[in-house]
Amino acid sequence: MKNIYSNIIKFNSKNLIKIINILKKDGIIGLPTETVYGLAGNAYSNIAIKKIFKVKKRLKKNPLIVHYYNLSRAKKDVLLDVKFNKIYKKFSPGPITYIVKKKNNSKIKPLACGNLKTVGIRFPKNKIIRTLLKKLEFPLAMPSANKSSGVSPVKPLDVFEEFNNKIKVVDGGISKIGIESTVLNLVGKICILRPGIITPKQIENVLKTKLKILTNQTILKSPGLLKKHYSPGIPMYLNKKKCPDKYAFITFGKKYPVTRNSFNLSRKSNLNEAAKNLYKFFRSIKKRGYKKIYVSKIPNTGVGIAINDRLKRASK
Ligand code: TXA
Ligand code: MG
Repeated sequence: MKNIYSNIIKFNSKNLIKIINILKKDGIIGLPTETVYGLAGNAYSNIAIKKIFKVKKRLKKNPLIVHYYNLSRAKKDVLLDVKFNKIYKKFSPGPITYIVKKKNNSKIKPLACGNLKTVGIRFPKNKIIRTLLKKLEFPLAMPSANKSSGVSPVKPLDVFEEFNNKIKVVDGGISKIGIESTVLNLVGKICILRPGIITPKQIENVLKTKLKILTNQTILKSPGLLKKHYSPGIPMYLNKKKCPDKYAFITFGKKYPVTRNSFNLSRKSNLNEAAKNLYKFFRSIKKRGYKKIYVSKIPNTGVGIAINDRLKRASK
């Protein structure tokens, strides 16, 4: 009998050649990054990009992030300035995406950028993705490996289930960070379009200016920042002090009792740990058949800003 998990593949030298061949031949594949798992394809290939949009059921106007191995490769496709350089030096490779201007002679396919003149670029830190990027002659367009508006995957099995075993995924274990990269707009007025593990304060300290977080739909700059997103597909209610036994209760901090229906993001009130547990909990709550989720108050500082952003949109 065929092993049903055969589409979850180990990262070894034999498979490395396989993976590279899939990507070179305009195929798409699930890959680990330090934030969440992505669905990767050649950013210079219309065929690959079309596949990504189709499999994810993603709106065409919602641009993809293009992932590079290093700066010199990115410079072939985009225009970078002094401010970019400052932040890049501090945070990349790592969990941050920069919205920058695309060059006129850029090889990135317009479809990947939702036909915008800008593009989101990221330099991921995860070893597997870096090994691949180094070997490839093109950057990887890579949205999170989930169906549009759903929860981002944080382990290979999530990707497997998301696409009913139709997509190969490279096993890189559990995502270290667990939520998507910070998206920083560097075209026109600098602002944060999606908060993440790299906090507004950290970026402000480098740029020495105050930053706005513009995460709602009114800024069509980031068409992908749809209000309803990251949704586990069941109603979610925020800022609750108590929760009926029959519903799942997502909590934070040690003051909440450990009960059968409670899912504590971090008993020691650590926001990084909470971010790492968030999507894992969304999926296991759904799997256990709960019909509703209550969520206690989560501090809205530092990484808490990103967690509250995802909770708000998941509860819309
Ligand atoms: O951590 C991450 O960023 C993951 C991993 C796989 O790298 N990727 C990810 O991609 O979260 P995705 O497609 O799920 O989210 C990309 C976000 C969307 O909200 C999109 O609208 C925004 O980035 N974005 C991409 N290009 C943009 C652009 N040119 N202007 C404004 N927003 C852009
Ligand atoms: Mg996504």
